[in-house]
Amino acid sequence: MALGASGIAGLSGAALATPQTPTSAAGASANSIRVPIPYGAAVRVDALTSDASYRAAVIANCQIVVPEGEMKWPDIHPARGEYRFEKADVLMDFARQNNIEVRGHTLAWYGGMPAWTAAIGSRAEAERELVGHIETVVSRYRGAIPSWDVVNEPLVDWPEDESSLRPSIWTSRLGPDYLPIALRAAAAADPDTRLVLNEYDVEFRGARFAARRKALVRLLRSLRDRDVPLHAVGLQAHLFADRAIDRDGLQELLVEIATLKLDVLITELDVIDYGLPGKVGERDALVADMAGQFLGAVCDVVRPRAILTWGLSDRYTWVPTYFKRIDGMPNRPLPLDAELKRKPLFDVIEQYRRNTV
Ligand code: G3I
Repeated sequence: MALGASGIAGLSGAALATPQTPTSAAGASANSIRVPIPYGAAVRVDALTSDASYRAAVIANCQIVVPEGEMKWPDIHPARGEYRFEKADVLMDFARQNNIEVRGHTLAWYGGMPAWTAAIGSRAEAERELVGHIETVVSRYRGAIPSWDVVNEPLVDWPEDESSLRPSIWTSRLGPDYLPIALRAAAAADPDTRLVLNEYDVEFRGARFAARRKALVRLLRSLRDRDVPLHAVGLQAHLFADRAIDRDGLQELLVEIATLKLDVLITELDVIDYGLPGKVGERDALVADMAGQFLGAVCDVVRPRAILTWGLSDRYTWVPTYFKRIDGMPNRPLPLDAELKRKPLFDVIEQYRRNTV
């Protein structure tokens, strides 16, 4: 049964006493009609400085930006004891000059770690390096970054339960404690920033995705039970066009998240179109339709705090790095095409963030 507004009505009051503005049976709360959900995108600092038309498109379309790589360990902490803030500072200056909010991404992740971290040899050293990194980076931008992806992609591909954490230097030296250690360090470094746990592959139909949703909820509950500071869950929403959105499963996850009094952000929306037909018009429509299915399922249950795509324009997207199309045509996963023209995906996002569907 689709867990729409009627399904929520059966929940206890607590489930709706969330920071969210849960939609009413009418499909939207009063204030969600007045104030659109903020939209933003991941950006590349090099392109922002070298590509004037892209820069102008970001300024024209984004209320929020998140660095695609410039605040990750390889860029910002490339060697032991060495911090490089140049690129992150360029982004912060750009955002301040254009009145755009910045999301921080990311502090504790298995991915893309610089080589030197492999030599971290003990629990004490791991805690010192992780806490030191978070204190140094988060306090530098204290008051200027209102939301951080503190923990990114903690679960293995097919988790048994909340203990099924993806192997990383942090899990090998600190075990599951790395999550509370990171979250508490971020809260101490900037008490006003919103702390986000960001995950992917929880949107689809299938046993593996259901297992991920279940493990994610158990992980969130375990953090809550230990009074670990956490404010929101980031649904990355990298939507693979050859998968089906699990509306019921996704809505059950959202209700569980709301019950835990956690906000929801859509943090990395794009549609990976490598298996879709080549014809651009047809493909763009299918991309928009899949995003609409996802956003419709989410916005029927909660009002996301923000909707961000992982890139603004097909001119700069990670997708072909791993999901090149067999026909050799450029991927078209994002709201603007490579010439910065709006696509149906842009319109769908606008409809949902303005609650006009
Ligand atoms: O900057 C170096 C460059 O100096 C070097 O010559 C080149 C070749 O090795 O690598 C460049 O770094 C690359 C970096 O992107 C900047 O382009 C890394 O190799 C490459 O691994 C990195 O990929 C990024 C990936 O995260 C890993 O950090 C992608 O651009 C980025 O889109 C992707 O984003 C992730 C999110 O953080 C988490 N969710 C999934 C999402 C997509 O994978």
